[in-house]
Amino acid sequence: MLTATSPAPAPRGATESRLVVQVLPDAAAVARRAADLVAELLLAGGLRTFGVATGSTPSPVYAELAARGLPGWDGVRLFALDEYVGLPAGHPESYRAVIEREAAGPLGVPLDQVHVPDGTADDPRAAADAYEAALAAAGGADVQLLGIGANGHIGFNEPGSPLGSRTRVVDLDERTRADNARFFDSPAQVPHHAVTQGVATIGTARRHLLLATGAAKAEAVRAALEGPVGPACPASAVRLFTDVHVLLDTAAASLLTRA
Ligand code: F6R
Repeated sequence: MLTATSPAPAPRGATESRLVVQVLPDAAAVARRAADLVAELLLAGGLRTFGVATGSTPSPVYAELAARGLPGWDGVRLFALDEYVGLPAGHPESYRAVIEREAAGPLGVPLDQVHVPDGTADDPRAAADAYEAALAAAGGADVQLLGIGANGHIGFNEPGSPLGSRTRVVDLDERTRADNARFFDSPAQVPHHAVTQGVATIGTARRHLLLATGAAKAEAVRAALEGPVGPACPASAVRLFTDVHVLLDTAAASLLTRA
């Protein structure tokens, strides 16, 4: 395992800031390492609010955590990063359904402790504002799990998203719609809009675990960690966050020059 630590710019008011990049042999090792870090926090009593992501990358992390049979999940609240707008309630690919199926159920988190933006609301903008307020009222996430889009998105903050953005309704990039078409019967069924935590909202978490596996993520990982920090690659904002672990497999790390 190769481990590189590089200083991240300290956000105002922060006393210490760290960004650790670990390159692991494969996706299974990435999931195990992420589970180790989450489990450590849970067992130390420091995981009251868990920021969860959906998609192929975090899914094995929940399975790994569930397999460990750890106590204490019934006291944890889950807050999702994002939700499609316009899928009917209960649609199996809505992020509420995914989080319930892949995370809350296997871990034993009561469903009334699962928070996901309401993508079925008549007024999605009001739903976005309500979600931002609910996360703030919960005190923010103790740890936020993040995947990265092949275009450098985090949550559904597509390229061009302001780093100061908050939870809002967004248009999905055609690249993101195409990438996510694998979860639907046909590409046309992928929604065009979503409610996502903003980049700054994501930054309110106390710790972040950014995971990437596979060669398709290599360019986005390079841009996030070695390119300019800015809206062209929203994931680059992790370099402004306080306590970040980036866990990569060798394929996702293959374009890095400094890890
Ligand atoms: C999911 C999310 C997205 C995904 C990203 C990577 O809640 O917010 O940012 O993390 O699209 O998805 P996978 O892991 O499927 O490649």
